[in-house]
Amino acid sequence: MSTEAYRIEPAAPHDFALIDAIEKVAFGAASWGSGDVAQTARIDGVSTLLARGETSHDVSGFLLWRMAGEDAEILTIGVLPTDRRKGIGAALVRKCLDACEIAGARRLILEVAADNRSALALYHSLGFEEFAHRPRYYRNGADALLMARGLHPGA
Ligand SMILES: CC(C)(COP(=O)(O)OP(=O)(O)OC[C@H]1O[C@@H](n2cnc3c(N)ncnc32)[C@H](O)[C@@H]1OP(=O)(O)O)[C@@H](O)C(=O)NCCC(=O)NCCS
Repeated sequence: MSTEAYRIEPAAPHDFALIDAIEKVAFGAASWGSGDVAQTARIDGVSTLLARGETSHDVSGFLLWRMAGEDAEILTIGVLPTDRRKGIGAALVRKCLDACEIAGARRLILEVAADNRSALALYHSLGFEEFAHRPRYYRNGADALLMARGLHPGA
């Protein structure tokens, strides 16, 4: 079994195409579509984190976030299916929480499909709580949940 350690770091523009490819594999039929994540990563104000193997330097996961008024929001997060349940998703969200606190955000918010059990388990394990419910929000008819975790800007 691999014991590779992962480093969470900002992405460089030359990583954006790779993030796009990982998103496609991570989300499957629910992928945003070719080029869309790379395009979003290039938008002013959008920050991007990567999980990179310390030894292999392979990228296994990514997260995009941005400030939205007093809140920060996770736009998308994905981990390759072969690298799941190794703590990479949690490490990405923790790094994002730190960055959002430094940026002065009061909360970190996100939207998740109500039937996405792994993502919900991840967010609950990190202290996120549901604050709104959007029935039949997605194309496949699934409900969306809005979740938030309070931050301590400047603490
Ligand atoms: C959601 C996702 C990012 C989680 O990434 P991950 O690297 O596997 O998550 P972690 O290994 O850091 O998991 C941290 C904790 O979350 C919970 N968790 C994560 N996946 C879980 C699963 N399939 N079942 C139950 N709990 C799960 C567990 O509490 C886990 O801790 P543990 O392994 O010590 O029990 C990954 O499953 C993914 O890319 N899914 C497809 C894309 C997606 O749905 N993104 C979210 C959109 S809102």
